[in-house]
Amino acid sequence: MTQDELKALVGRAALDHVVPGSVVGVGTGSTVDRFIDALATIAARIAGAVSSSERSSERLRGHGIRVLDAAQVERIPVYVDGADEIDPRGYMIKGGGAALTREKIVADLAERFVCIADESKRVDVLGRFALPVEVIPMAAAQVARRFAAAYGGQARLREGVRTDNGQCILDVHGLRIADPLAMETEVNQWPGVVTVGLFARHKASLCLLGTAQGVVTLRY
Ligand code: 5RP
Repeated sequence: MTQDELKALVGRAALDHVVPGSVVGVGTGSTVDRFIDALATIAARIAGAVSSSERSSERLRGHGIRVLDAAQVERIPVYVDGADEIDPRGYMIKGGGAALTREKIVADLAERFVCIADESKRVDVLGRFALPVEVIPMAAAQVARRFAAAYGGQARLREGVRTDNGQCILDVHGLRIADPLAMETEVNQWPGVVTVGLFARHKASLCLLGTAQGVVTLRY
């Protein structure tokens, strides 16, 4: 199967975790695009979606799915999103699509995070994928220096990219993240950091992993 076919497979498999009549949390990315396409087939059976990006909102609306503002909901049963990397504990790197802040906000509303990914995203230790960090532009140089000093990482500005929140993204290369919870806690304290793309406090509850043998469900 191609990577695209694996994405479509896990996108459809995620429908089994959608609670009928509920509002669904929807992430961002090419895998989530396939989930949104699958969600369209049961649009009449859900109350709507809370979306983590303008890109996903547009696709949801295009399929006739009602998009609610995050402020309109207190709690949602499930958030479905992809990942750039996922480790054996369900900790993830996210933000390859620059939507990490809204993704964490919607994940925070959810009781369960259902990660959908093809098997290339599974790693033993996070960090081969450069860690995205949304920062206020004024702080970018200082945050980059801190990453070098604290973790030996080299931060590069993602040129020409502004997030849906109008901020910029640093991609931090050369990390080996043995303790994602500790790093997330530490980096969150640095002035000017909006969101670090480590999802440790908001890790996956389960991962639907697309493999050549079909969908494998990993629980954490
Ligand atoms: C966007 C994300 C995505 O979930 C992540 O980049 C995976 O994307 P894709 O499904 O296209 O591989 O975090 O900010």
